[in-house]
Amino acid sequence: MQLPPSLREAIDRELEGTALRDLAGAADVLSQRYRAELRDGRLHVNDDLAARAYLTTRLPATFASISAALGAVAETRPDFAPQTLLDAGAGPGTAIWAAAQRWDSLHDALAIEASPVIRAVGERLSHALAVDRTAWLTRRLEDGLADLAERDLVLLAYVLVELSPSMHDSLIKQLWRLTADTLVIVEPGTPEGWIRILGARDLLIGAGAHLLAPCPHHHTCPLVRPDWCHFSARLPRSRLHREAKGGTVPWEDEKFIYLAVARQPGIHPEARVIAPPHGSKAAVTLKLCQKDGHVAEQSFAKRDGASFKTVRKLRWGDVLLAES
Ligand SMILES: C[S@@+](CC[C@H](N)C(=O)[O-])C[C@H]1O[C@@H](n2cnc3c(N)ncnc32)[C@H](O)[C@@H]1O
Repeated sequence: MQLPPSLREAIDRELEGTALRDLAGAADVLSQRYRAELRDGRLHVNDDLAARAYLTTRLPATFASISAALGAVAETRPDFAPQTLLDAGAGPGTAIWAAAQRWDSLHDALAIEASPVIRAVGERLSHALAVDRTAWLTRRLEDGLADLAERDLVLLAYVLVELSPSMHDSLIKQLWRLTADTLVIVEPGTPEGWIRILGARDLLIGAGAHLLAPCPHHHTCPLVRPDWCHFSARLPRSRLHREAKGGTVPWEDEKFIYLAVARQPGIHPEARVIAPPHGSKAAVTLKLCQKDGHVAEQSFAKRDGASFKTVRKLRWGDVLLAES
């Protein structure tokens, strides 16, 4: 998943004049804080250098995973054309960029962000966005959202992980109240991220939400630890990204988990592929989360004819439709 060229250029302008050594140091600190899921009362991105490190090493990854989650929404709701958006914990506005790339109907976005530093960066980047109006609010989510109007699309990407678990339910309830159509939550693809998504899933099903993705059913999640549900999005790494992270390969696989719910149902798939498929030219085995609420490993052979042709193209995260 490539960044839109206008975003890439705007990021390059933000990074001009930053010494690689400083960037690599800040990226390292950021990565350690994220990996430890540190909640020590400080925002992770709390100075200019941390913000530049985020743009270099995290934004491309969160853009890729948010784009994949929004792609799943578009697949199940091909008629969805959001005009208004709320991005809670917007960081540099990654989710707004991903949504604007997916839906050109979008003309009004509101970003809420606690860190003035990353908010300022996001605001500058958004001048290059093809969205008529983008407004930014510096606010902590715990200070409430009661004064805000409903939006067609509400996004909460990589934010629950940074918040005290005691405020997750009230935040999700508030965001659902502000959702005129679809709410999408994205988290890191770790077992802990999956547990947070399961908590949101239970709450939202209880509130009458329709699950759009990734689950093809409303039953209890059939996965049991140490297994967990997650997906992967591949993104190219720029030279600076590689150098700042000390990586050698020109891509990165971002593991993520997400939940998309809506006020109205989407197309119901038969199943979703929840692990990398394996097999050969003659047969493929898929781990499927099925619409009956069960998980099954299913094999398809070349002799199955047309259905094999469709099934062998499926990737981790794709859905199997009734005619597949
Ligand atoms: C990992 S970043 C994700 C940014 C963006 N959504 C993305 O996916 O790239 C999490 C963001 O949430 C913000 N945040 C953390 N705690 C917050 C709070 N209590 N209220 C508002 N924003 C918060 C952080 O400052 C940070 O910008």
